[in-house]
Amino acid sequence: MKIGRWLIAGAVVAVVIWKADDIIGTDKQQSAAPPAVTESASASSSAGSGDSSTNDGTESPEPSATPTSEHASPSSSGDAASSGSPAATPEASEKPSNAADESEDSGDSDSLSALLQLNAPDKTIEVGKNGVATVTNPESMLVLVNKKRELSSTYAPDDLVKPDVEFSFSGDSPKQKMRKTAASALEKLFAGAQKDGITLKAVSGYRSYATQKSIFSRNADLKGEEVANRTSARPGQSEHQTGLAMDVSSASANYELEPKFGDTKEGKWLAAHCAEYGFIIRFLNGEEDVTGYSYEPWHVRYVGKEAAKQIMKQGVTLEAYLEAAANGATKA
Ligand code: DAL
Ligand code: ZN
Repeated sequence: MKIGRWLIAGAVVAVVIWKADDIIGTDKQQSAAPPAVTESASASSSAGSGDSSTNDGTESPEPSATPTSEHASPSSSGDAASSGSPAATPEASEKPSNAADESEDSGDSDSLSALLQLNAPDKTIEVGKNGVATVTNPESMLVLVNKKRELSSTYAPDDLVKPDVEFSFSGDSPKQKMRKTAASALEKLFAGAQKDGITLKAVSGYRSYATQKSIFSRNADLKGEEVANRTSARPGQSEHQTGLAMDVSSASANYELEPKFGDTKEGKWLAAHCAEYGFIIRFLNGEEDVTGYSYEPWHVRYVGKEAAKQIMKQGVTLEAYLEAAANGATKA
């Protein structure tokens, strides 16, 4: 009998540990380890790899890649100053686990509520002496990166893989990669599209800090810094560095990354269905003041199915959703 009671007690403890890991899982902290995947510091120096093509359509085209371009929208909040949010809480900095590795979903609504609390904007930022606000949850699928919340220059995901989808260019490139969970979700998204007769192609995914730096400075040289920053992120401020974002286009849009993609049947399908696979359209039309960037119907960001469905259903930005959830306004 005693042995039986010990066995039952052991099983209960095991279930509690497993469930807790499930809930806090995506909050793995940023590691100071060197990037597992590195890229050359300049986009042009990687021309042979096909990596200097477009990157959010803002780089000069090269022979092996489809040329793309973006329009700078006149409406933009411009460059935002760093916020003075408080430093990370103990919860946010003590859980070195990563559910994004284990599950494509943020789990049930209880798990999502817990995740949303852990990833609340004011709990996931650290302001340095230089005034730059750095995110403390770069590995979370709910990480919020924008002009006010940067990724460390040393951050690179350690689970980047190339999704088995079609790309708009030939050859191998680091920008084909995404984090494992996001890559697997992208494969399902593209397969789901194909089933509906919609052919999507991936254009630009992971970008290192160094690559983003090179892209931004090229755009700034071409258009001026302020105009460039309406469509192109400064280094550290791009979601592409998280490995959770992919730019997607179609033949009907000439594989370009331009607002017109949103008017194509592929762009419409993407907006209507991306949440079923855990993605959101990150830069919504008319939300430039919140996101800091003009409308990008091609840029999908992985957040997990539960959160994605809520965000897309509500038609809100990731900024607004996370803020509302932290204030208890979002019913997960
Ligand atoms: N075009 C988006 C904002 C980026 O460069 O990350
Ligand atoms: Zn993008």
